[in-house]
Amino acid sequence: MRVLRSIDELRSIRAHSIANAQKVGFVPTMGALHLGHAELMKVASDQSDISIASIFINPKQFNSASDLAKYPRTIDDDLAICSECKVDYVYLPEISDVYPEGFDTSITPGSLGSLFEGASRPGHFSGMATVVVKLFNIVQPNVAFFGKKDYQQLAIIRRFVADLNFPIQIFGMETVREVDGLALSSRNAQLTDEERKEAPRFFEILQAFNRSFSSTDSLNEAISDAKAQLLSLQCFQLDYFDIAEQDSLQPSRDTSKRLVALGAILGSQVRLIDNQELQ
Ligand code: PAF
Repeated sequence: MRVLRSIDELRSIRAHSIANAQKVGFVPTMGALHLGHAELMKVASDQSDISIASIFINPKQFNSASDLAKYPRTIDDDLAICSECKVDYVYLPEISDVYPEGFDTSITPGSLGSLFEGASRPGHFSGMATVVVKLFNIVQPNVAFFGKKDYQQLAIIRRFVADLNFPIQIFGMETVREVDGLALSSRNAQLTDEERKEAPRFFEILQAFNRSFSSTDSLNEAISDAKAQLLSLQCFQLDYFDIAEQDSLQPSRDTSKRLVALGAILGSQVRLIDNQELQ
């Protein structure tokens, strides 16, 4: 595994891969890597001739300076995980390479970016989309891998890849969970002991909702029940819970469509998001 720090190094690897008709797989990350990232990297490494992960804590997608400061920084452990997952290259960009002086452009998702997380975290998806577009242009992968845990992020990336004609296949991978069901997240480390104990209830409630979704006569009642259960959590406040179409994320009650339940709950230091594709 080689660590790359400059855009020129990536360009020359890309030129070589094109000359040799090699497929490049890419896993962008912000570090604080966990088993969910490891799965993405293993699949990228298995399915590509050349696998590249990036680690870049993107300041533009944080809502406050304190949130950015709190984000875990674990670069030595991260590089060890990348190496175990057998990625070929890890790109560690300098902030001045990603956002050089005078940088004045941003990508703003349309309606997909204003709902759910977009409503709770103004500017987050614009920061995320801007950096992912930049990383796509720097790395120029054939395929990029993202987790379904960040369901709205994945939907937005699929949308701009189609809208802006990026020749990149986007691969969405199932959420990796703790044995008690809590979705793995770099931010779980910020849960208090009490919050960590109660956090698996979030996914239990989503799963129970999925079961009632397939059997209920009243979808609105099932949604109200799930909300009531989320509201009754002791350590968390409910931010949102709703069901929406899987691709557009427009809230919907049309059960003939492919739907997903999406929720967010707030702890003292950290908000958790999770989702469940409904069957
Ligand atoms: O999911 C993440 O870790 C980030 O949002 C991403 C896609 C690496 C962009 O900074």
